[in-house]
Amino acid sequence: MLVLAGAPLGVNFAVVDGSRDACAGQVAPLHVADWRDFDALERFAAGVDVVTFDFENVPAETAQWLSARVPVFPGPAALALAQDRVSEKNAFRAIGLQTPAFEPIASRAELDAAAVRVGLPAILKTRRLGYDGKGQFRLRGVADLDSAWAALGAQAQPHGLVLEAFVPFTRELSVIAVRGRDGDFRAWPLTQNWHRDGILALSLAPAAAAPELQRQALEHARQLAERLDYVGVLALELFEHEGRLLGNEMAPRVHNSGHWSIEGAVVSQFENHVRAVLGWPLGDTALRAPSLMFNWIGALPQPAVAALALSAVRWHDYGKAPRPGRKVGHATVCAADAGVLARQARALARALACEDQLEAARPWLPAA
Ligand SMILES: Nc1ncnc2c1ncn2[C@@H]1O[C@H](COP(=O)(O)OP(=O)(O)O)[C@@H](O)[C@H]1O
Ligand SMILES: [Mg+2]
Repeated sequence: MLVLAGAPLGVNFAVVDGSRDACAGQVAPLHVADWRDFDALERFAAGVDVVTFDFENVPAETAQWLSARVPVFPGPAALALAQDRVSEKNAFRAIGLQTPAFEPIASRAELDAAAVRVGLPAILKTRRLGYDGKGQFRLRGVADLDSAWAALGAQAQPHGLVLEAFVPFTRELSVIAVRGRDGDFRAWPLTQNWHRDGILALSLAPAAAAPELQRQALEHARQLAERLDYVGVLALELFEHEGRLLGNEMAPRVHNSGHWSIEGAVVSQFENHVRAVLGWPLGDTALRAPSLMFNWIGALPQPAVAALALSAVRWHDYGKAPRPGRKVGHATVCAADAGVLARQARALARALACEDQLEAARPWLPAA
C-alpha cells in the first residue's frame, strides 16, 4: 500500500522480505533475504536513498546498521522503543498519558507477586514480538496463573513478559498521525476500533467523540512524536475508560486502523508516510467522507463481486494465501454522511454474510 501510494509521486521502491510470497512483491522489486543477512542488506542499501519499514518486528539492530549507510525513518531508537511494551508504556507515562496498571515479569515468582499488585483479571503479554493478539494470555483469576505461565513462561527470558490490568473499556480509539523531517505534525480524525480475538475487525472514522477528548488524544500523539523525534506515520492505540484515555500501545508505522484514509481522507497515511520519510511537504489529513473499514481475517469473504456491486465499497485484496488469523484484505465503505455509511455497511455485511462482524459497531452507527 506504501508502493501504491508513492508510485504516482514518482517514487521508485525496492522491498526486502524473507518470504518469496511477500505481497509487496506484486508491486515492487523484491529482494528475498533475511533481515539479518547483512551482505544482502549491503547490496540493498547501495541502491536506495532512504529506508523505511511497515512491520515493527524488523530487528532494531538491522535498522541501526542500515542507518550508518542510508537515512532510516522512523529512526532506530523509536523502533526499538516501540518493540518493548514496557518502554512504550513508560514513554506514555512520561508524556502524561496514563496506562493500565502493569508490571514487568521475568519469573514465576514475579508473576504471582504482580498478580496481587496489578490485580485480576489481567492480561499476560510478551514484552516483545507480539501482534494481532499473539503472545497474550488472559487471566480471569488466580486459578489461571498456572496455565498463563505454562503458555508464556518459556518467553520470560531473555526479553520478559508484562502483566497488565484488564481494562473493561468503553471503547478503543486510535490516533494515526504523521511527523515530517522538519517537525511538521498532522493527525487524521480520531478512529474507533473493534477487535475480535485480539485482531482488528472494524475501524470507523471519524469516531464520535467530544472535542476535548479528541484534542487530548491528538495532543498525546503529538507529544509522543516530538519526544521520539519521530519521522513518518505512527499510531497510538488508546482505551477510553470512565471518560478518560489510557495508552495501550504504539505502532511505529502505518497502521491497520488508518487503512480507511486511502479513500476517506484527502491524503492517506501511506502517501503521507512516503512524503515524510523523503522530507517532502505533508499532505492534508482532513476527512473526505465518513468511513468504515472491514478487515478480512483468515480468508476473503465471498463473493467479492457482490461487494463491488455496492457503490460505496472499495475492495483491497492483498494477494495473500488464506491462513487462520491472517489479515488477507479489507474493504472500506465511504459515504456522504453517517446514515448512508451505516446503510451501505449493512448492505455489505449482508452481501458477504458477515453481519456478525458488524454487530459490535451497531450501537455506534445510525439505526436502519
Ligand atoms: N489491558 C487490556 N485490557 C483490555 N483489553 C486489552 C488489554 N490489552 C489488550 N487488550 C485487547 O487486546 C487487543 C490486542 O492487544 P494489544 O496490546 O494491542 O496487542 P497487539 O500487539 O496484538 O495489537 C487490544 O486491541 C484490546 O482489544
Ligand atoms: Mg494493538
